[in-house]
Amino acid sequence: MATSKITSLFPDNFLWGAASAAYQVEGAYNIDGKGPSIWDIFSHQPGTTHEGTNGDVAADHYHRFKEDVALMAELGMQSYRFSISWPRLFPEGRGKVNAAGVKFYSDLIDELLRHGIKPMITLYHWDLPQALQDIGGWESRETVDAFEQYARLCYQEFGNRVELWSTFNETLIFIGMGYFTGAHPPGLHDPKRGIQACHHVFIAHARAVKTFREYKNTGQIPANGQIGFVNVMQPHDSITNSSEDVAACQMADDLLTHWLYDPVLKGEYPAHILNLAQLTWDVPEFAPEDEALLKDNICDFIGVNYYKREWVAANPDVDNTKINTTGNKGSGQEFGIKGLFKFVHNPQSTYTDWDWEIYPEGLCVGMMRLKERYGDIPFYITENGLGAKDPIIDGEVIDQPRIDYLASHIDAAELAIKQGIDVRGYYPWSFIDLLSWLNGYQKQYGFVYVDRENDLQRKRKKSFFWYKDVIASNGSKR
Ligand code: BG6
Repeated sequence: MATSKITSLFPDNFLWGAASAAYQVEGAYNIDGKGPSIWDIFSHQPGTTHEGTNGDVAADHYHRFKEDVALMAELGMQSYRFSISWPRLFPEGRGKVNAAGVKFYSDLIDELLRHGIKPMITLYHWDLPQALQDIGGWESRETVDAFEQYARLCYQEFGNRVELWSTFNETLIFIGMGYFTGAHPPGLHDPKRGIQACHHVFIAHARAVKTFREYKNTGQIPANGQIGFVNVMQPHDSITNSSEDVAACQMADDLLTHWLYDPVLKGEYPAHILNLAQLTWDVPEFAPEDEALLKDNICDFIGVNYYKREWVAANPDVDNTKINTTGNKGSGQEFGIKGLFKFVHNPQSTYTDWDWEIYPEGLCVGMMRLKERYGDIPFYITENGLGAKDPIIDGEVIDQPRIDYLASHIDAAELAIKQGIDVRGYYPWSFIDLLSWLNGYQKQYGFVYVDRENDLQRKRKKSFFWYKDVIASNGSKR
């Protein structure tokens, strides 16, 4: 429920924003010299996405970005997190630059700045150029070199105007689903290849951080520029106190959290898990310079994407990965890695129609656990939101469940600040309704509705007006 307080604990320079990602919002997938990404190819293959939906048109933000930025300004947004489409800048992934792509992002950044909105750029939100997948994708060191070239171009072209950068969005999802469950491109079920690919992502990240600092040192990026990494923040809790369940929960934490946060915040893998991977699969293979690269390039901040917690149990039997992509409660299966752990439903908890637990406290608890392990790092909450089929009543989108969801999570963010956590910004997912990778357009997250029956017309939802007040009152009205 919306509440009003006299003041909030959010500092004056706290950034109230919202987020999106190129493939999910831009459309124009083959326009003005853009090359194909792995998602353009994958989503056109039958049976890969919900009812064959894809990002060919998406919200057509590529053509309507001025209208969209005007809406962001009306909402009062202070920052906008978006990703750059790598194949729009390098149609072949490397080599020849597409000037029209550079111009698009340059214009977008100018438009944001003109409206007083700080850009926060994500370099990689999953749309790898297909040309690089064709040479092995993240399994190849050539992709790491290409990423550095791509990052360099972005720093050169946009670095003087953009303070906040992150390299990658959510290894858990694009590596986990790309190489373990097969639901994302390249659609593999191969832990050995996945672990090596993930290692290359960490090396690409470290090299991009190193290059970023070189640009900062030469003044091509302003001194207040910061670079981070964005991860899923998914707290795990054991469903019982039995030693089997507690051990399974610890394993889930080690594999799904520590494996993915340690390399960017400590510059190394958790030793016992590294041992296990090397004994079982002989990976990750380190090049001579890798260890030092990871150690020397710890990032400036961590971006956390928080949607849900998972309840964990020991798992002697389940080997399933089918998730709910319909929005019909209970239509997924228990997720589990046999012998290690499984995620289980807790009848005491509240769930969305996509079977994601609604647990606002997890936002605070998750950051506290990270702080305990990694020390006093700055946090940005880079995603948080409710995916739902929004009700339209008398032509208005009355997304009250989203308001309730976000309000309770803002409470948790404020509590985290009270606990001494350095939270610097909040970016709900998403600014506008956009493509959900595997769920199509039925799973909405935005403050702005896109009428897909009516020339993609934009319409402000009830949550738009609510969030506007939140921002205007620096979080005290919610
Ligand atoms: C995050 C991603 O995993 O969650 C977004 O960074 C994504 O790109 C969001 O859209 C919500 O997930 P979904 O599957 O509900 O679209």
